[in-house]
Amino acid sequence: MTDFLYATCLVGAEKLLKAEMARRYPDLRPAFMRPGFVTFKSERGPLRVSGTFVQSAGQSLGKDEPATRAKLPKPPFGLAVYGPGLEPQELDPLRETLTAELGSTPLPELGPGAQVVDVVVLPEQHFFGVHDHDPQDALHPGVYRPELPPEAPSRAWLKLEEALRLSGAPVKAGQRALELGSAPGGAAWALLSRGLSVTGVDPAQMDERVARHPKYRHLSRSIALLEPRELPAADWILSDMNVAPEQTLQHVLRLLETLRPQGVFLTLKLKDERAARMLSADANDLAARGFEVVGTRQLPSHRQEVLLYGLTAAAAAASGLHR
Ligand SMILES: C[S@@+](CC[C@H](N)C(=O)[O-])C[C@H]1O[C@@H](n2cnc3c(N)ncnc32)[C@H](O)[C@@H]1O
Repeated sequence: MTDFLYATCLVGAEKLLKAEMARRYPDLRPAFMRPGFVTFKSERGPLRVSGTFVQSAGQSLGKDEPATRAKLPKPPFGLAVYGPGLEPQELDPLRETLTAELGSTPLPELGPGAQVVDVVVLPEQHFFGVHDHDPQDALHPGVYRPELPPEAPSRAWLKLEEALRLSGAPVKAGQRALELGSAPGGAAWALLSRGLSVTGVDPAQMDERVARHPKYRHLSRSIALLEPRELPAADWILSDMNVAPEQTLQHVLRLLETLRPQGVFLTLKLKDERAARMLSADANDLAARGFEVVGTRQLPSHRQEVLLYGLTAAAAAASGLHR
């Protein structure tokens, strides 16, 4: 049975998405492509795909026309409206119109496995798709609509919030975080706001509010010039340095020889496809250091970068997400 699937990705990541799908699902054939949106033909019938570069995915029903609307599931179903490259708030009027036209049910009222109708908004037309509701699919771009608070020192605030939401990491007040590449301080601000104490390593200058925060300590040097014993114990290690991914890994693996965090969150810059192909080896490096749950994901707020995270068994158990 031939079926069509769709996946959305960040605008510009289509080639990376297609390469990942070809590696993971060799039977799929790419069919139609627009910025941030790719459909695939599957000869094996419906298939739910996932991957580092997948923002959302499901069965593709086709472009918005009466014949496609006739294929929508029977209520109750949820609705997820998303436009690659568009701010979620720009789609509020369309979301309201479609909610009324289709009679969808708010997602929190739906149980796991209920169907969700996806509407992917492209410049020339809308596409309909459908997927099974998964309340743990925390970053579905038609559902999760983060807004950068005006007081956040940088967009890295969003990256951190998304990473925590995706991983379910049990980050709590009173814990300690160490961040490599901390300036100007969006991620540190998010952690300080959650009641953690933070040590930042970066030769660049921090935002004044972070620098003066009583729970923030700054080491104004390159990580290459610091010995692990000069660094404090940490429950969480983060890296957001704008250096090659292999350098990030090298520095963090060196720290893991002496530091024993519950989890690590590494932003890896993706300058080329090679860096993307190396991700599974990077993930293996973390797994070899005793991280039970290891994942890679391009986050909604990312540009040319990807998150590699690892949680110890205890942190994964406390997260409630990884069973
Ligand atoms: C994307 S910015 C970090 C944003 C930051 N995480 C935030 O929350 O605002 C990248 C930072 O990495 C820093 N960096 C680059 N190489 C570094 C190194 N070897 N050691 C420490 N920091 C480094 C840069 O100075 C720059 O401030």
